[in-house]
Amino acid sequence: MARSKITIVGAGNVGATCAHWCAAAELGDIVLVDIPATGDMPKGKALDLLQSSPIVGFDACIVGTTEYGPTSNSDVVVITAGIPRKPGMSRDDLLSTNARIVSSVAEQVKATSPNAVIIVVSNPLDAMVQRVWQVSGFPAHRVMGQAGVLDTARYRTFLAMELGVSVEDVSALLMGGHGDTMVPMPSCTSVGGIPVSRLLGADRLAAIVDRARNGGAEIVNLLKTGSAYYAPAAATAQMVEAIVRDKRRLIPCAAYCDREYGVGGYYVGVPVILGARGVEKVVELELDARESADFRKSVDAVRALVQTMNQLVDPS
Ligand code: LAC
Repeated sequence: MARSKITIVGAGNVGATCAHWCAAAELGDIVLVDIPATGDMPKGKALDLLQSSPIVGFDACIVGTTEYGPTSNSDVVVITAGIPRKPGMSRDDLLSTNARIVSSVAEQVKATSPNAVIIVVSNPLDAMVQRVWQVSGFPAHRVMGQAGVLDTARYRTFLAMELGVSVEDVSALLMGGHGDTMVPMPSCTSVGGIPVSRLLGADRLAAIVDRARNGGAEIVNLLKTGSAYYAPAAATAQMVEAIVRDKRRLIPCAAYCDREYGVGGYYVGVPVILGARGVEKVVELELDARESADFRKSVDAVRALVQTMNQLVDPS
């Protein structure tokens, strides 16, 4: 069976770590690409990672480059390019710089890998994925954003810590935008099949939800020089795996929703089935009154951000 070809745009912490997870899981051959100003850095990281293969025991071609030629005809393209936030910044503060960066990446991907499935990781996530979809002209099911797997992983981690149980037994869902308005779904959270409300009081659960919601900022404040990368990269690799192995995982992603949830043409975090075609299906749940109100608020925040972005990139 031919190996899948995976391009990762941006050889910084998230991109390089994503390459690492993808290589270790033998998801395919990997091209790590960055801008010419980074010189030989992507080549160096790719070669270093490749030299770990005899030790770890994986087979993959891994190349680093500053040109898009070697990325041509990729099956999956992960876009991590852009600047990360620093303490005191919100993801939204990155809007104009990263919109410019991801637009140029999307042009290149469109020209070199016209059949790829694109996973966007750059922030502010929901706006960046919308931008990549606009510029690439790809069908919406082949463009999506990584946020929900990460946000859910944070929530699951904190729940496992609180209950003193394995993270493997914590299953959960978060919806909405990748920002302060993300919507945890206690009704879709269970531990070993037991609804979380039977194991944890409402106050403790609310505190955990709050910590998960601010999980990205917590890491930024600890690192001081940038944002999280191990968990964001692992979350992205899980999405790559779902696509290249056609696993049909039911996981939250930033997916294009028009009639779905009444969103009206924006990318927002929802549960989807992820497989070889990309987003195979947006899974629509009946939301209760509170979830529904919180989700609306989150969609409103995403819509406002996208409208600001559209003004910045095309003021006419
Ligand atoms: C985070 C950034 C990467 O949530 O958005 O850590």
